[in-house]
Amino acid sequence: MQATAIAFDRFKPLQDDACESRIVAGKAALGKRAVILGHHYQRADVYKHADLTGDSLKLSKLASQTDADYIVFCGVHFMAEVADILSKPEQAVILPDMNAGCSMADMANLAKVERAWRELGAVLDPDQAITPVTYINSAADLKAFCGEHGGIVCTSSNAKQILEWSFARREKVLFFPDQHLGRWSGYMIGIPPDEMVVWDFDEPLGGLTPEQIRKARILLWKGHCSVHQMFQVQHVLNFRNQYPEGMVISHPECNFEVCKLSDYVGSTDFIINTVAESKPDTRWLVGTELNLVNRIAEQFKPQGKIVRFMAPTVCMCSTMARIDPQHLAWTLENLVEGKVVNQIKVPAREAELARTALKRMLEVV
Ligand code: 13P
Ligand code: SF4
Repeated sequence: MQATAIAFDRFKPLQDDACESRIVAGKAALGKRAVILGHHYQRADVYKHADLTGDSLKLSKLASQTDADYIVFCGVHFMAEVADILSKPEQAVILPDMNAGCSMADMANLAKVERAWRELGAVLDPDQAITPVTYINSAADLKAFCGEHGGIVCTSSNAKQILEWSFARREKVLFFPDQHLGRWSGYMIGIPPDEMVVWDFDEPLGGLTPEQIRKARILLWKGHCSVHQMFQVQHVLNFRNQYPEGMVISHPECNFEVCKLSDYVGSTDFIINTVAESKPDTRWLVGTELNLVNRIAEQFKPQGKIVRFMAPTVCMCSTMARIDPQHLAWTLENLVEGKVVNQIKVPAREAELARTALKRMLEVV
């Protein structure tokens, strides 16, 4: 008989420190039956318990390779969905707090994408002319939409190659939900800026004329990341003035002008590796989430590297931060008792189509 779940209410009042030993004990009791995956933006007091860490591409691959019965995902909802889609049916994927979402992923939904597809049908035949490309930061049903319509998923580390794959098949791309990643990746493969137009999902025909649609190579969904939009050109210019020898590195979710002014642009893994491989005593300005920047600032201090956060204000992925030590301890203690809480399970048909789009991506990189 299934044990009754331990209520989260018992963990809510615990201090962060008090959760520490309970997480360690829970992990020890579960042994190889559970694996904790942690995204680089995860807060430090949770990140340190992760068995495996990475950017979203690496974590999707790890989720498809582990044999653990339980995959505890310290990240956000779409990442746990991908883990469920790519893992074996008998494995359970758990998101310690169901409220850990991604505000960018929420900027596109199936109804709006289907409406866009229908409206585009008044100008051209979308299934012949357009490859739908969804950033992995999106709900599973949008990945399924791409699977069904000859499209594909991309992450911040492979978007350029995925666009090349897409253009080898059809003349245009509908890229959602992040306009910035789409624009930067389009620029990287040589698409002129005037052939990339923004699709405003609140306007009929995306706020575009049929002529603009016919001329466009990439239709960029009007979505963005609320964290990365905080990084501004002036932050880069101030740093360059103060430290002309300094290096600037940004995530491609930053706006186009910030990316253009940066020395390097890439995913969270790329950012960490680039700073790690740099010469000692170098100075860096980093345009991505605060937990990651704080972590690498500490990590590379002994090599004389000075790593500074790009914005003067605190910009954290507040939704990912909802996965706190209390939720992690609660999740693990329930698993020890044989109770799976907060399981992420994508419906079978949706998972199958989404898997098609994800596998296309994994075959490219
Ligand atoms: P990565 O692909 O670099 O992990 O980025 C995911 C993300 O959500 C960035 O905001
Ligand atoms: Fe989503 Fe932005 Fe958080 Fe990344 S940083 S998970 S895009 S809200």
